[in-house]
Amino acid sequence: MEFKENAITPEIYHELRSSVEWMNFNVEQTAQGLSRSLYSLVVFDEQKPVGMGRVVGDGIYNIICDVVVDPAYQGKGIGSQIMNRLLNYLKEQTPENGRTSIHLIAEKGKETFYEKFGFKLVPNESSGSGMRMIIRK
Ligand SMILES: CC(C)(COP(=O)(O)OP(=O)(O)OC[C@H]1O[C@@H](n2cnc3c(N)ncnc32)[C@H](O)[C@@H]1OP(=O)(O)O)[C@@H](O)C(=O)NCCC(=O)NCCS
Repeated sequence: MEFKENAITPEIYHELRSSVEWMNFNVEQTAQGLSRSLYSLVVFDEQKPVGMGRVVGDGIYNIICDVVVDPAYQGKGIGSQIMNRLLNYLKEQTPENGRTSIHLIAEKGKETFYEKFGFKLVPNESSGSGMRMIIRK
């Protein structure tokens, strides 16, 4: 497996999202969104893209999103390697004496995958629920 940084194309993005039956975004919005990523990874098996993950944000507040492994390649540790590398990027970006906040929304039933990396469920003793709104036009 080869991990490439900042190399997700709109075609790869659509293909991998479709492989896990996620809805896609239109082509223009996808190209613009990908170009605004802080950091991203795509995993290749030979020439075939089999996994990806992205960090978006401003270095203070950051979202981990689009963590996807093609179903034929799941359960082989690829998702964990993607997460470890995204988190390493964020650790390296965090200044000495600074702090950075990392957010994500787990798919239903996928919470334990993220708990392994140190994410905490919200609400908890210090936070209310995460909230989300989607605008459609
Ligand atoms: C979630 C996903 C990225 C995991 O990738 P993967 O390559 O299969 O994961 P790994 O092989 O690295 O597994 C890592 C650990 O997470 C666990 N895990 C994997 N998929 C899981 C799931 N669906 N639910 C709970 N735990 C899961 C594994 O059992 C493994 O545990 P272990 O280290 O104790 O053995 C992958 O299943 C996927 O793309 N799913 C569809 C898209 C998705 O839901 N993405 C997450 C968005 S919130």
